Amino acid sequence: QRTFDLVIAANRLPVDRVVTPDGRSEWHRSPGGLVTAMDSVMRGREGAWVGWAGEAGEAPAPFEESGMWLHPVPLSEEELTTFYEGFSNDTLWPIYHDVIVPAHFHREWWQDYERVNERFAEAVCKVAAKGAKVWIHDYQLQLVPAMVRALRPDLRIGWFNHIPFPPVELFAQLPWRSRIIDGLLGADYLGFQRATDAQNFVRAARQLDGRATRGDTVTTQDADGTDRVVRASAVPISIDYVGLEELAKSDAVQARAAEIRTSLGDPDIVLLGIDRLDYTKGIRHRLKAYEELLAQDTFRPPEVTFVQVATPSRERVGAYKDLRSEVEATVGRINGTYSALGSPAVHYLHQSYPRDEMAALFQVADVMLVTPLRDGMNLVAKEYVTCRHDLGGALVLSEFTGAWHELQQAFVCNPHDIEGLKQTMLRAISTDPKDKRRLMRASRRRVAEHDVQRWADRFLTNLEMAPERPPAKGA
Ligand code: G6P
Repeated sequence: QRTFDLVIAANRLPVDRVVTPDGRSEWHRSPGGLVTAMDSVMRGREGAWVGWAGEAGEAPAPFEESGMWLHPVPLSEEELTTFYEGFSNDTLWPIYHDVIVPAHFHREWWQDYERVNERFAEAVCKVAAKGAKVWIHDYQLQLVPAMVRALRPDLRIGWFNHIPFPPVELFAQLPWRSRIIDGLLGADYLGFQRATDAQNFVRAARQLDGRATRGDTVTTQDADGTDRVVRASAVPISIDYVGLEELAKSDAVQARAAEIRTSLGDPDIVLLGIDRLDYTKGIRHRLKAYEELLAQDTFRPPEVTFVQVATPSRERVGAYKDLRSEVEATVGRINGTYSALGSPAVHYLHQSYPRDEMAALFQVADVMLVTPLRDGMNLVAKEYVTCRHDLGGALVLSEFTGAWHELQQAFVCNPHDIEGLKQTMLRAISTDPKDKRRLMRASRRRVAEHDVQRWADRFLTNLEMAPERPPAKGA
C-alpha cells in the first residue's frame, strides 16, 4: 500500500469513468469548480486523491494519473440516490444556497451520508503516511474530519467549503446540525470562501452546539477530554491564471474564437452564460431580462445573440429536472418569437464543454453574464477575465457570488432585480471601450495576484499553523 504526505478527499475524483455506448470505458474530466481548482493545485505536488469515480458499483483499482495517485471510493446505486442526489444535493445544497428551492429531509438519506463519509475516512487513513496533511473538500464530506481524527490522531486535518455556509437560521433547520458541526470540528483548520461563511459556522457552533467561541476560533474537546482550538477563516479559491491565459493566447484558441464569431453571423453583441444547469446560477432570471430587452426592441438578432452553455448536472434530482424544463421552454419561446432565419436569439447548448472551447467562447463574449442567486465563489467569472488578455469584453457579476468580493470592477447586479439587471446589461454594452479596458485590466490583475497556487499555499499554511494538539492528560 502506497502512502502519501498529502491526501485530498473530495466527493469526485478529477476524472469520471464514462462507459461509451459501444461498451468501452473512458476517463473524462469531472464537472465543477472544485475539480478545476484542485486539479491544477495537485499537478505541482505529490499526493493522493480519494474520491468517487462517477458511476455506481464497484470502484476501479487505485491508479496513477499525471503524477497523482487516484484512490476511488465506491458508491452503490442506492447510495447514489441517498447520499449523493439525496442528502448532498437535495438537503444540504438547497440549505447552503439560501433555500432557493425547498430542502428535503429524510432519515435514510442521513444514514447513508454517515455511512459513505465513514468509507471516505477509512480510505483516507489507508493512503495517509504518518503525520500526513489531509485536505477534505466540500459539503458532501462534512463528517470525515472527525472520523479521520478518531482513526488517526497523528494526521493534520483541514477542510475547505467550496459553497456558502448558511446563516444560523437556515442551518438550524437541519435535524442533524450538531452532528455536522461535530464532524467539522474534527479538523484542525476550516477554510471558507468568504468571511461571512466562516462567521456563520462559528455562530452555528456557539448557538446550536453550545461551543465556546472566540473571534474566528471554536473550542472543542477530543475523545480524551483535552481542549482543542479550531480556526475557521476565509481563503477564497481561484484558478490557474498562467495556464489558462496561455491557453487563451494559443493560436488554436484564437483561431477557434474567430471561427465561432463568424459562425454566429458576426453579430455586434454576443452575450454569454456558462454554467452547470443549476437553479443557483440565475439562468432563468438572465433569460427573462434578455427576453424583456428583446420585447422592448432594444436590440434584435442578427445584431445580438445570446449563447448559453448549460452543462448537464444532477439530472435525476427533481429541482434540476424542473429547471431544465423551464429553461428549455423559455429558450424555445424566446427563439420562436425573436429569432430571424439563420440567426437564433438564443444558442442553447446543454452539453459539457472542453476547456479550450470555453476559452474561445470567452473571447467571443462582449458581455459575460455571471448572475447566480447564490454562489460560493464562481470560477467562471475569474476564467472569463483571465481569457480576456485583449482587455475586451465586460463582466456582469452578481453581488451574491464570492467572486464579487474580489472582482469589484465588474458590472455588479442583483439578479432578482430584473429591471436593474437589464440596465446593467445595457451599461456593460454601452460603456466606453476605454473605460471597460481599464476595468478589465484591474480584474485581471486581481486574479493574477491571487491565483490557485496562492490559495492552496494559504490554505496549507493555515493548516500547518493550526494550534498543536495539547499533550494528553497525564502525559
Ligand atoms: C460544485 C461543488 C462540487 C461539485 C461540483 C459539480 O462545484 O462545490 O463539490 O463536485 O459542483 O457537481 P457534482 O454534483 O456533479 O459533483
